[in-house]
Amino acid sequence: MHPGVLHRRFLNDLSTSLFSFVLPLLPTSEELNVKEEVRGLIEKLIKTLEPSARLLSFGSSCNSFGLRNSDMDLVVLIDDPNATIEPGNFVESMASLLERETNFNVKPLPRARIPILKLELAPSPALPFGIACDIGIENRLAIENTRLLLTYATIDPARVRTLVLFLKVWSKRRRINSPYRGTLSSYGFTLMVLYYLVHVKQPPVLPNLQRIMPMRPMEEEEVMLEGKNVYFFDDVETLRREWSSVNFESVGELLIDFFRFFSHDFQFNNSVLSLRAGQLTKESKGWVNDIDVGGLNEMARDRNRLCIEDPFEVTYNVARTVTKDGLYTIRGEFMRATRILTQRPDRAVLALAELCR
Ligand code: GTP
Ligand code: MG
Repeated sequence: MHPGVLHRRFLNDLSTSLFSFVLPLLPTSEELNVKEEVRGLIEKLIKTLEPSARLLSFGSSCNSFGLRNSDMDLVVLIDDPNATIEPGNFVESMASLLERETNFNVKPLPRARIPILKLELAPSPALPFGIACDIGIENRLAIENTRLLLTYATIDPARVRTLVLFLKVWSKRRRINSPYRGTLSSYGFTLMVLYYLVHVKQPPVLPNLQRIMPMRPMEEEEVMLEGKNVYFFDDVETLRREWSSVNFESVGELLIDFFRFFSHDFQFNNSVLSLRAGQLTKESKGWVNDIDVGGLNEMARDRNRLCIEDPFEVTYNVARTVTKDGLYTIRGEFMRATRILTQRPDRAVLALAELCR
């Protein structure tokens, strides 16, 4: 058979295999129901401490990039402007309350940079893996970036969700999704995929939601929250009606090209990935990691090896956890993935299995 035909067939196969790979890894409706019940129960208890408190989910339980048995990310929002609440103290009060009233294993971290409460529930028949949950206080930006990610997913769920979910599974299986061990968070990998779909792919698969300005097309729209501009175009109905991508590449093609781009083309040494603004230089952001920057110690230099700008907290490098070794490993994994997907054009299922081994 002609090599071109074989390649076509492999790409079709790869896309089908990606869908089938991801499907059984999605959370069951039972799991989602139990988690929602747990959220409601904790919220009720927290309201006895502060009646205007609400408990909201963020992260993968509601950005549509959730995998089965993933952690719950929760945040307490206090609506009463007259309530004076110090996050560390509130974490301590919640800890004693939940210790008393629930079966959760409770671990408060009230003096962390961002005070949180960690909860764990032992496995049960309904939840064979138990529940692990982090509760933060007043982190409203996390709610906004969760909504941004969800809106991107909603525009083209088949391609966007499949790619992100696959990348999450792959990065976990290949052990490069551990911010505490020098690699990158799921949030970081998700931003990389979205960056690629908005800014790298031509024609783009996704529009830049932070740059669609329907009201005053010549000016920048601004919605301020905690001193950050959190504006993005979130009118999904209008988007569906008025925006459609003219990029028709299959999810398999996009995956291979994603790996190829981050193996060969992206300039890790001097570029910053910005979902908001495209490719920026480290220099322009002051995120330099050269040895010759005087006075910076080893730790400080390691903070800007990989640079991913947060969509709203633009002075914040989401990939600050990635060390020199971590980046070396991640780049090695991108190359390995490219190699497997381009040199194994027989069975796509086998290529995916090998990729995630
Ligand atoms: P899994 O837990 O692996 O399923 O993925 P996840 O989608 O929940 O991602 P992750 O746990 O990495 O992050 C959860 C949420 O926390 C994200 O959706 C963000 O809202 C927020 N978050 C995580 N890391 C950062 C960070 O470095 N900066 C900011 N601003 N927010 C973050
Ligand atoms: Mg999470």
